[in-house]
Amino acid sequence: LDNGLARTPPMGWMSGQRFRCNVDCKNYPDDCISETLVKSTADMMVKRGYVKAGYKYVAVDDCWLAMKRDKSGNIQPDPLRFPSGIKALADYVHAKGLKLGLYLSAGNLTCMGYPGSLGHYDSDMATLASWGVDMLKLDWCNSDPNKLNNEFEEAGRALNKTGRPILYTTTWPLGQKTKGIQPDLTLVAKYCNTYRVYQDLEDGWESLEALVKYYGDNGRSFVNDSGPGNWNDPDQLLVGDFGLSTEQQKMQMALWCIMSAPLFVSADVRRMRPESQAILLNPLAIAINQDPLGIMGVQIVVKGQVKIWKKAITPKGSFALVLVYTNISGGPSRVSVLLSDIGFTTAAAYNFTNVFDGTHIGVYKPWHTFNCEVDPTGVLFVQAAALP
Ligand code: GLA
Repeated sequence: LDNGLARTPPMGWMSGQRFRCNVDCKNYPDDCISETLVKSTADMMVKRGYVKAGYKYVAVDDCWLAMKRDKSGNIQPDPLRFPSGIKALADYVHAKGLKLGLYLSAGNLTCMGYPGSLGHYDSDMATLASWGVDMLKLDWCNSDPNKLNNEFEEAGRALNKTGRPILYTTTWPLGQKTKGIQPDLTLVAKYCNTYRVYQDLEDGWESLEALVKYYGDNGRSFVNDSGPGNWNDPDQLLVGDFGLSTEQQKMQMALWCIMSAPLFVSADVRRMRPESQAILLNPLAIAINQDPLGIMGVQIVVKGQVKIWKKAITPKGSFALVLVYTNISGGPSRVSVLLSDIGFTTAAAYNFTNVFDGTHIGVYKPWHTFNCEVDPTGVLFVQAAALP
């Protein structure tokens, strides 16, 4: 979507995967979907360096709405959980240098049963704009799957009409695929800033492994429709949650960076282990994700048990590589690859840096063989900077 937004993959925090639809503020005052959660997260995003690192949006997924529209038919936040209202929350977040995101569904109800926006796009988008909201996640639950192209285009036009720059993120093609309809990704990319094609990523290895396999096998089919202004979104980051080991968290971060995926942390940034926080804040990883060329990297070859993913980055002729080993046991897998075989013919030599530990691996020429080990359910994430 050419609305001036998301020229590089958007970055931020989203409540969805970690905080789900916890609306019980009586028993879980810190973890329920509420203005307290948003404000304390925004505070911590500043304090712990997320904002400085580039994470700009703080977004509430489903379950922020009141169960009913107001008397005039407008959407309104749950009065007990958002007592100060969304305008005040947006002001708070903006004062911290952050942007506010909210969730709606292009159906009769949201996935969790809150009021849907079907037939209300003009007024709902105008309401978001009047509050100072900067991002919308528009979902597809409880809509007619055959009409999704029309619905998401219409909602996008309504957003545009507000005159406020609002990042437009969707699950539009996922809704179509779920119902056996082949999405037209060129159309989708024209009308929204990010779009999901694959099912929800859950907090555990099996779910991540399936997603990695899906994008490994199908990634190439998204490359032409992913780039500045419109990004393929494999879903939220689970780094810092419960279900993935540290190596598996690195795998998710590395692959999201290689795929130029939106980086939306869905974890409790207020209480996070230092090793997870370091993965999320790794400057070299983020630079690879945010590379101005905006090319979606893909899996290019399978070498024994290791899969090699590659993305072209700046400076000209440079690459990022992720070597992925998804076996769960048996010790590290050794791999050897002749660099000219994987397209390292764009420069006379390359300076290899290990992204996660920052160490210098070596200088390689196209006719060199790169030998390395990759840990079980882990990755080796390499920046290969072209040397003149
Ligand atoms: C769907 C979406 C998720 C999340 C939930 C909220 O499952 O795919 O990302 O927004 O709804 O209910």
